[in-house]
Amino acid sequence: MKRILTGLKPSGELTLGSLIGGISQTVKYQEDYESFIFVPDLHAITVEQDPKTLKERIRKNVALYIACGVNPEKNTIYIQSDNLYHANLSWVLECHTYMGEASRMTQYKDKSSKGENVSVGLFTYPILMAADILLYDADFVPTGIDQKQHVELARNIANRFNNKYGKTFVVPEPLIPEVGAKIMDLQNPTQKMSKSADNYKGTILLLDSEDVIRKKIASAVTDSEGRIYYDPENKPGISNLLTIYSCLSKMPLKDVEEKFKESNYGDFKKEVADIIVNTLTTIQEKYNNLINSSKLDEILDDGKEKTIKIAKEKYDAVIKKVGLNR
Ligand code: TRP
Repeated sequence: MKRILTGLKPSGELTLGSLIGGISQTVKYQEDYESFIFVPDLHAITVEQDPKTLKERIRKNVALYIACGVNPEKNTIYIQSDNLYHANLSWVLECHTYMGEASRMTQYKDKSSKGENVSVGLFTYPILMAADILLYDADFVPTGIDQKQHVELARNIANRFNNKYGKTFVVPEPLIPEVGAKIMDLQNPTQKMSKSADNYKGTILLLDSEDVIRKKIASAVTDSEGRIYYDPENKPGISNLLTIYSCLSKMPLKDVEEKFKESNYGDFKKEVADIIVNTLTTIQEKYNNLINSSKLDEILDDGKEKTIKIAKEKYDAVIKKVGLNR
């Protein structure tokens, strides 16, 4: 069985965008792949965090993944900072990465161009991500389109290392879903719905109440044409709502367009809100049963133990090839 690996940062609340773009794909893939799923909390501190909030979110995110259908029997679920080998391997990989290629990463360029709070960790972030992936011989990395460039960097580093020292790492491939890879902000539909948005008006959080969800959808930005069809360039708001409906109903986009062709925006929005509320209510029930249970700790302890074993083996092989240690 091929192995996949994915992570979602706990640097903000999980959103409908994370569910559609990442988590629900992961749930699908668990049938066909051996899956590793982790909370990259070390990545979270590349930007400033409140320690208490961060700690809560780590636990919350794991509970949410599972509530969204990530099956702990089928997946290895763990927390990045539980395993010291991630940061250790990252150092070795940093020494095999050029400044030029790291400087080309668009996420870094975007964040650093805003000028605030630019840590060195923000710059080396993709290399730590490469370590996350390469430690476990992941064949595929299911991820949003925004992370594709980082997976490509991991491929480059893996190839470079393999060429220099002999076959050490599996060269990973990104797995990008076709529809719903990118859910946009409801207020600003040319921007991605973000889990670290400053305000959550345009973002649906997985733990939002029914009331809040309905309000956010009702006030989603659309256009004045009054016709419903998919055209992300000229109708980003409506197209985004169509995409959301298509992903949650599992109906092809074409059929969704057909279904709402005669509707007005108000009725259409109500149906979009209904399907979001239905989906999230079920998830929230499961979440509430898990969040304070010892079951959750057992799952994470198992994941920790299993991944440390795997990572140690890989890391030992790496330092031996590089000539480190005795
Ligand atoms: N960079 C990813 C994100 O922003 C999170 C992440 C860290 C990740 N390490 C990873 C994703 C390894 C996949 C594989 O969402």
